[in-house]
This record gives sequence, C-alpha cells and structure tokens, in this order.
Amino acid sequence: MSRAKKRAGNPAFTARPVAAAAVPDQAAPSTLTTVQDVPVERPVRVDTSVFDEQTWQRAQEIIARYPRSRSALLPMLHLVQSVQGHVSQAGIAFCAQQLEITTAEVSAVVTFYTMYKRQPSGEHLVSVCTNTLCAALGGDEIYARLRKWLGVGHEETAGQPGSKGSITLEHAECLAACDLAPVLQVNYEFYDNQTPESAVELVDALRRGDRPAPTRGAPLTDWRSTELQLAGFFGEPQQLRDAVDAPSAAPETLAGNQLAQDNGWQAPAMPDQAPPLPTVPEKK
Ligand code: FES
Repeated sequence: MSRAKKRAGNPAFTARPVAAAAVPDQAAPSTLTTVQDVPVERPVRVDTSVFDEQTWQRAQEIIARYPRSRSALLPMLHLVQSVQGHVSQAGIAFCAQQLEITTAEVSAVVTFYTMYKRQPSGEHLVSVCTNTLCAALGGDEIYARLRKWLGVGHEETAGQPGSKGSITLEHAECLAACDLAPVLQVNYEFYDNQTPESAVELVDALRRGDRPAPTRGAPLTDWRSTELQLAGFFGEPQQLRDAVDAPSAAPETLAGNQLAQDNGWQAPAMPDQAPPLPTVPEKK
C-alpha cells in the first residue's frame, strides 16, 4: 500500500501530550501533527495532506543525503516552499515530522533566514539589492520605483500570490555582485547594472508572462521551481542541471584574476607559521 493510502486510512488523530507528541511514528504517518509551540492545553492539529506522495518521497531522498536527518532541514524547507509557495504551519509540522525534531526548532530556522517566506509568494520573487554599494549607485532608487510601480512594500505581492504574473517584491542585503551594481535578482537569478527604467521593464515583462534572460547564470523559471532546484531536484532534461551548475561569474568579477594572469603575478606563498600579532597597547 502506498504511503499516501496509509495516511488516508489513518483518519483518527489523538492529541497526545505535547512532550510525547514530538514526532508521529514514521511507520504509521499521519497527516495530522501536533504543533508543540502552543500552550499544552490547546494543541493545534495541523493537516499536512497538502504534501503528496511525491513530496514524501523527495523528503526521504533529501534525508538520505545526510548522516543525521536533522541536517536536512534547509533543503527540506525549500522543498516545502516548492509545494506551497511559503512555509506554512503545515510545512513546519511536515519538516518536524520527517526530521524527528520539534516544530519549535523548525520555526527557529524559518524565522532566522530571509529565504524562507512566511507569507505566500508570487510567481516571481524580485529582490532588489539596497546594500551600501548598490544603494549608492541607484539601488534605493530602483527599489523606490518598483514599490510605487507595483504598489507594494517589502515582502508584499502584486497580484494574487501564486497566480500567473504575480510578483513579490523585497529589498535585499548584499547579493554578492557589487562589481555589477546596482543589481537585482528574479528568483535568485541575476540582472546586473540595472536602472529604475530597466527594472520597470523587467517586472512588466514578468507580469505579461515573459521570462527575460538573466544577465548570466541559468534560464529564468518561476519561484517555486527555483525552490525545487534549491532542494536538489532538477528533473529532466539534464540541461537545466548543467545550466545551474555552469560557471556564472561575470568578466568584471574576474578582472583582477585576469590581470594577475596576464602579468604573471602570484600571491606570496603562505608562511609555515602565521606571523605574530602586533601588540595592542594596554588600556589604562
Ligand atoms: S551591495 Fe549590492 S551586490 Fe553588494
């Protein structure tokens, strides 16, 4: 019998005491899991049936990559986002159940990393870098223009989340492409050397259903598909995997390295022993 059928055949849920309800028995999975970070006297039952048989299988594949199951939490959360477009209470319960950790532990990670969204996201996630260098070169202006153009603020969605052409906007810290500033990303793919005008053109194209090619890197897809890739699933054809793995550094980024090669420069060898640290004047 498939796991989905086993779950369907196990409708009865008993709210066990919180301490004992940490992880439902893996051999008899239930679609209902007690969320532990709520008062003991009011356990909440969470329906995880949104995660289908294929998602359960993928979860097991992720877990098998690691010596300890709890190490699989980060890709597991990307898997959850590929299904729901955010990490819901059901997603938190699903991860806790699969990894045999508490929902509080899962929640702590979800709320720490900005890549995990707590509200349903749009078909596309547009991240505008507003860190120092990008901001000074126009990133703040780009973000302000997009806010006005889309009529949304940080982590808000223009259009119905998940529907075609919907866009979630966010400002982001340094996206590690300062030499190509100001930059923005769509579903974590780079669009370099942007202007407010080019950014507006880009989001308009996304809203029309177009997928303009990123400046470098893999072809643009939608945010949920990107989340599946981040969980480590690429499907067929192999070209997508190859495109994601291919080098994507821009010539500007490699300019220093090229200059060194052209001139035969090399970094001095590392000493066997680190030189002593300079003495620090004593505070009086
Ligand atoms: S400041 Fe924008 S990429 Fe570094």
